[in-house]
Amino acid sequence: MADARKELLGKFEAKNRFANFGPVIVEAKISGFRGVNASITFDCPVTALTGFNGAGKSTIGQLMLCGYKKLATAVSAKRYYVANFFPVSPADPNPFSDDASVTFRYQTDKPDALQDLTVSRAAKEWSGYKRQPEKNAEYIGFTVYIPKVERRDLSIYSANNLNLTGRTDVKNAAQYVSQILGSAYDDIYFQGIAVKARAGELGIAKRLGAAYSENNMGFGEGRVVYTVRLLETCAQQSLVVLEEPETSLHENAQYEFAKYLIDVSNRRGHQIIFSTHSSIMMNALPPAGRKLLVRTAGGVSVFDRVSSSRIKTALSAGENGHTIICVEDLFAQSLLREMLRRFDKETLSAVSVIPFGDARAVLSAKDALQTAGIKAIVVRDADQAEDVKHMIFRLPGALPPEKEVFGNDKVQALLQDNYGVDFKAMVAAEPDLDHHQYSQKCCAKVQASREVLETDCIRAFLDDRGADWSKDLCNSIRRSLA
Ligand SMILES: Nc1ncnc2c1ncn2[C@@H]1O[C@H](COP(=O)(O)OP(=O)(O)OP(=O)(O)O)[C@@H](O)[C@H]1O
Ligand SMILES: [Mg+2]
Repeated sequence: MADARKELLGKFEAKNRFANFGPVIVEAKISGFRGVNASITFDCPVTALTGFNGAGKSTIGQLMLCGYKKLATAVSAKRYYVANFFPVSPADPNPFSDDASVTFRYQTDKPDALQDLTVSRAAKEWSGYKRQPEKNAEYIGFTVYIPKVERRDLSIYSANNLNLTGRTDVKNAAQYVSQILGSAYDDIYFQGIAVKARAGELGIAKRLGAAYSENNMGFGEGRVVYTVRLLETCAQQSLVVLEEPETSLHENAQYEFAKYLIDVSNRRGHQIIFSTHSSIMMNALPPAGRKLLVRTAGGVSVFDRVSSSRIKTALSAGENGHTIICVEDLFAQSLLREMLRRFDKETLSAVSVIPFGDARAVLSAKDALQTAGIKAIVVRDADQAEDVKHMIFRLPGALPPEKEVFGNDKVQALLQDNYGVDFKAMVAAEPDLDHHQYSQKCCAKVQASREVLETDCIRAFLDDRGADWSKDLCNSIRRSLA
């Protein structure tokens, strides 16, 4: 998984980007659509837009679809215009302002050269579509799959007279659907149907010894079957915008679906943008693919690398009067809490220490919280830069906290005595082991809970280092609360 994410980001490096993804949108500036004035960058081929209801997620996704002409070679493809998504009517006189505009910044075949093109409102008409690059664009909204039993469909009202015609296969569809839904499918295909001159089709699945059409599928199952078909059969290097793909999927399927999006983007060069309320899907993406949207008086602020679930936790803690300390990950959270507990219990009771992902995510999180009027400070790992004036501190020591703690002799003795783990031998056997994996690896060997083992190690480490180790940082945090 980590490798697929890394591979995807490597393919998106400027020098490789055009060859792998074509003229992708790398940035957009939006002004005056449904009150959205925003600037957003796309730093990963798969991007999740998160934020509260009405934040502007769908608005941004829909506008991106309006950034391309359809492929000259495409016969039946759809070309999206602003008017498709923002209808004006007596009920909705102003879905966009008179001077609304969206500027797309595209990758070109020269790594350093980006192309800016603007669609804007001029004299009651939209201009700027003509020079746009070509790309197939697909919108997977909420109606990509509507159960036929809920509408007047051939396969329902003429069920008795149905003739089966040809079948359409989608390469490896059963494999992808099995992986996403966590159940073995023997086959997935689309069956042509006809009644006299009328024709249609039905998705068919075979699993657990049964064969059934979409008319007897679960809703999540049907939606996945149709979505996979679209992603596998649309033109290579398409732009695909999905609305809340977690809809009707169980938690593990949400995670697997996010993995699938990374996989299909890797294989087929799609740029994928999806709106979501699923922290599971957000967290399955590399931080570069996470965008948090927050409505402000002036429009919408976009915070990079942050997921909304963590911000929600931070906002409610902030509203209860706590100062938020943004840290990189769970290990830093445990360590800092333990330092404060030993050194300054009063400060600990006035703060909430919340992990946000990585060294850059914590900076965005701090900005997002401050925008919402919540007091926030940052404590990054010891290998990151400090900026005391802006309340950006770092943990003591010189190395990432896992390396400080697990590298300590007393901690290694504890691991040996209490858990039977020879840490030095473990690392020697796997010299490339990432320090974020240390505790997981120890736990896997000895069936211990991660938090318990980490806390044991952190306590042994702090016992060994004494109060001096925590003093400066704890004092800085206390001063910043004043
Ligand atoms: N004419 C308008 N002027 C200003 N703001 C508008 C206008 N029309 C709609 N809006 C705002 O746009 C919001 C809808 O935006 P959008 O559909 O992009 O949100 P979303 O983030 O996708 O939300 P959800 O999670 O509910 O799908 C509305 O809640 C409203 O606040
Ligand atoms: Mg929406």
